[in-house]
Amino acid sequence: MAYAAFRSIGAYVPQKVLTNNDLAEMVDTSDEWIYKRTGIKERRIAAKEEKTSDMGTKAAELAIERSGVPREDIDLVVCGTISPDYFNMPATATIISNNLGLNSPMAFDMSAACTGFIYSLSIAKAFVESGMKKNVLVVGAEKLSAITDFTDRGTCILFGDGAGAAVISATENKEEAIIDIHTAADGAYADLLMTPNGGSGSQHDALESEAAGCYMQMKGNETFKIAVRTLTKDVKEILAHNNIESDSIKHFVPHQANLRIIKAVGDALKMKKEQVVLTVEKYGNTSGASIPMAINDIYEKGELKAGELMLLDAFGGGLTWGSALVPFSPLKK
Ligand code: COA
Repeated sequence: MAYAAFRSIGAYVPQKVLTNNDLAEMVDTSDEWIYKRTGIKERRIAAKEEKTSDMGTKAAELAIERSGVPREDIDLVVCGTISPDYFNMPATATIISNNLGLNSPMAFDMSAACTGFIYSLSIAKAFVESGMKKNVLVVGAEKLSAITDFTDRGTCILFGDGAGAAVISATENKEEAIIDIHTAADGAYADLLMTPNGGSGSQHDALESEAAGCYMQMKGNETFKIAVRTLTKDVKEILAHNNIESDSIKHFVPHQANLRIIKAVGDALKMKKEQVVLTVEKYGNTSGASIPMAINDIYEKGELKAGELMLLDAFGGGLTWGSALVPFSPLKK
């Protein structure tokens, strides 16, 4: 049987920095309020002409280069995004694939909001383990600034832009394999986080209203409470299910939504400070891109070594959530 190995990581962040003080000039908020409630200091904003696929392509270039897998051998591209280049078609994954000059692999987008990377990783694992695909490029890319209402202080303080990517390859060596991935959803809470218009559920006829309705809306406080409760249960379950103690986790890489959510889940798992990977302060919440961007952060600091075990967790619109136990298994040592 083939196993799925997490071979490499790459990321890209746009140059423009939007600080809390910049936001305080746009809406009624302050650096102090935002930092205290979320742990965010600043986020990156893509240039006007920079698309989600452009950022995803840059992250993927790095991931492929670092993987040692020839690009013509990539046979599946999955892009987790809620801010695709185009709402309905073509999928952003097909554009990324073309930008990279890949050999016409299967390519599609994954709509699971902030859980997009973990969902996409589970697709990669399933395709590789079934033998249907051998080398999967998993991308998380978001231009959330394109779907953010910068007059709504309840959401615009949270989100940022960026991309991350990973290459997942078949291996015969079980030691290298992704151990387990949990994924779940509950549509009963669909209205907590949504872009209400622009689709077949649209409530407006006029085009201007359609455009405004494409911005994200969120019931933040309710989302916060469910996120803490659900994630704590989910990570405890994936550890127990695999007989792994939290002190065997070298890097706990949570979705970077809010420092208080991360702390609550980390504390419930008795994670030490040095186990928890944090990028929320400098990038905010980049939805499907946040986990691979955070993994890339420790990789580029030289803190992620071959064989080290990562615990990933995420929670987002849908509602969706998931967790994964992933050893870092590069081909190139
Ligand atoms: N600046 C200043 N005040 C703000 C504000 C801002 N940016 N946003 C909201 N407020 C105000 C509210 O109007 C409210 O005022 P009131 O008490 O006078 O009514 C007060 O702050 C408390 O609002 P509340 O929404 O209860 O705050 P909170 O502690 O829940 O923090 C979030 C708000 C958005 C930071 C928090 O709910 C959160 O992070 N939620 C989860 C978000 C998330 O993870 N989403 C994505 C899932 S991946």
